[in-house]
Amino acid sequence: MKFLPAQTLLCFPFILLLSQSSLAANPAHGKDLHNANCQSCHTSLMDGNPDLIYTRPDRRVNSLAGLKSQVTRCKTTVGVSWPDDQVEDVVEYLNTSFYKLK
Ligand code: HEC
Repeated sequence: MKFLPAQTLLCFPFILLLSQSSLAANPAHGKDLHNANCQSCHTSLMDGNPDLIYTRPDRRVNSLAGLKSQVTRCKTTVGVSWPDDQVEDVVEYLNTSFYKLK
């Protein structure tokens, strides 16, 4: 089955493209963006547990609109230039994993 790995490699960028151009927010992509750009600072703020910043009892975000503006604010601090759909992916990831806001 020598041909299989090469075929898989050829397909991979195409699959990535397809998943990124989807209209619905993509929390898995949001997680990748978040972990690559956002997590380390929260880890040091929260003494080693980055998730705590989203789950602590006195967290600041308590609405979807608030979550989106906080992500946008932190995004500006970090200096990443995410278009709106990537902001939505990160918001979707944080909401489905931690906030559970409606
Ligand atoms: C340089 C450090 C730093 C980086 C990098 C960073 N943040 Fe933050 N983040 C903070 C601080 C500080 C707070 C506010 C903590 C507080 O007010 O208690 C915060 C809070 C938040 C909150 C609100 C938590 C709550 O209380 O409900 C969200 C959501 C958030 N950040 C998202 C992000 C995202 C998304 C990124 C990546 C684009 C990111 N942050 C990158 C420092 C950072």
